[in-house]
Amino acid sequence: MVNLIIDGKEIQASEDMTLLDACGLAGADIPTLCWMKGLNDIASCRVCLVECDGELVASCNTQVREGMVVKTAAPHVVAARRANVQTLMEGHRYECGACVRQETCALRALASDFNVEDSEWYLPEKALWDESFPLIRDASKCIKCMRCVAECAKVQYCSVWEHSGAGPNMNVMVKEGLPINAAGCALCGQCITHCPTGALTARDDTAKVMDALLDPEVMTVVQVAPAVRAAWGEGVGVAREDATPGRMASALRALGFDKVFDTDFAADLTIMEEGSEFVEFMSSDKPRPMFTSCCPGWVRFAKLHYPQFVGRLSSAKSPHQMEGAVVKNTLAAEAKEAGKRIFVVSVMPCVAKKYECSVPQLATEQGSDVDAVLTVREFDRMLKMFRIDCNALEETDWDSPLGLSTGAATIFGRTGGVMEAALRSAVFLITGSNPDFSACDTTESTPEKPWITKELDVAGTPVRIAVASGLGNTAKLLDAIEAGEVDLDFVEIMACPGGCVGGGGQPIEFNKELAKERAANLNALDEADTLRYSHENPDILKLYEGWLEKPLSHTSHEWLHTDQETWDI
Ligand code: FES
Repeated sequence: MVNLIIDGKEIQASEDMTLLDACGLAGADIPTLCWMKGLNDIASCRVCLVECDGELVASCNTQVREGMVVKTAAPHVVAARRANVQTLMEGHRYECGACVRQETCALRALASDFNVEDSEWYLPEKALWDESFPLIRDASKCIKCMRCVAECAKVQYCSVWEHSGAGPNMNVMVKEGLPINAAGCALCGQCITHCPTGALTARDDTAKVMDALLDPEVMTVVQVAPAVRAAWGEGVGVAREDATPGRMASALRALGFDKVFDTDFAADLTIMEEGSEFVEFMSSDKPRPMFTSCCPGWVRFAKLHYPQFVGRLSSAKSPHQMEGAVVKNTLAAEAKEAGKRIFVVSVMPCVAKKYECSVPQLATEQGSDVDAVLTVREFDRMLKMFRIDCNALEETDWDSPLGLSTGAATIFGRTGGVMEAALRSAVFLITGSNPDFSACDTTESTPEKPWITKELDVAGTPVRIAVASGLGNTAKLLDAIEAGEVDLDFVEIMACPGGCVGGGGQPIEFNKELAKERAANLNALDEADTLRYSHENPDILKLYEGWLEKPLSHTSHEWLHTDQETWDI
């Protein structure tokens, strides 16, 4: 321990602490911008300045030393921070009124706190960017904090972004000057959620959805992913306990969609198909392990960085693609009779799904399964545009029959949830009886551990499973499998840390990782559900009776399965 004096208070701090941490112990509130704990301490923004032994230093990357005397709130310290915020604003094109990050921009919040007025002497030009790729970069809003570089390289192991030059000439760019679609980007969107400004965003598809809502010849169908229910209220001022699935269904109706379905229904369908595929796989001599396939960020990552594993992915489409295929094929006659065409919108916690819905190899004879994907942020923006008071909405049910689901489907939204749901049904398919929930439990899986493993005894057969989330963790697991260090039968991968609850399309709160909090919400919904096994969903059973016959049938293959090796990237 070392002894310091911070703002006149005597403080003891561990010698491996930064001044920023030690100031926290003293109760001082220091602003930060570029700093990400353990990931980015390059001290480029200088808004965390403090005076230490008579000199101004960046507190985020200065180590504590015995005897330091620190001032955090002296007028000259605050003035120096303000000057640095002013400099950042001068290198940032401001169009705050129209910027999608206007309410969550960390730079704008600092400019407001420090009373920095707009400066007109230097406004960078907006550079051209190919908007056919759903990850958009506006270099004129980049403040060179390098948070995207750190997140992409150190957490997601994709290294899409790099910097060139130094000092005032420093620039952030796609690696090697490549076009973004050729740079190995998995489209996880984590660079977006860790960008403090509007320099990185997901392509906005709300105008496309508005056109469909305005077209009298279109039947608009919307569906919502499991993880959205845990986060949608964050962007529209609805408390977590009030942001129920029923209130979300009402919010979607208020936007004018003709039919409002829950992708959870198709998550149950995914389990029926993928669980049956796994049972067949276990009695085959195919190379181990089989991987889940419901995360398109993971599928892209495998195709771009570990193509040797793509052939081991489950052939099941992701749940929203399945829901879209079922909607378009089962409602085709009803739409035709009404003289309309069906337009399916998915509200997703994800950026990669914007790419996935346009993969031509996923279409059925009814065309694309899904016509547009909105992130949760876009959904929340539409709710604001329509001026819907979400707190005042009554709860309503999803439309039937493609809206009923089980608790097993709800936990798809967190790391380990797909595996847990699959095991609940796979064990039933093998033994004829339901396992107890603790046997399938994966709640110990966290973003911090590279992966978790577990061995189950299923009717005398050992089944070895693993769960990983975050692409850095995924890379470590794949390397271990390739090196023969782990022996597995079934592996769940989610591209985003914590799973879809931490998705790149979720609402953004600066420097807050909300995945665990949102996952707890999904677990509570699962526990409260009267239906908790996908194979007990009565509407899924009716879908098989009426349309699909049985899991892995010919029609199931036509509508619900794909070969990821053929996908265009
Ligand atoms: Fe310390 Fe940016 S937060 S220099």
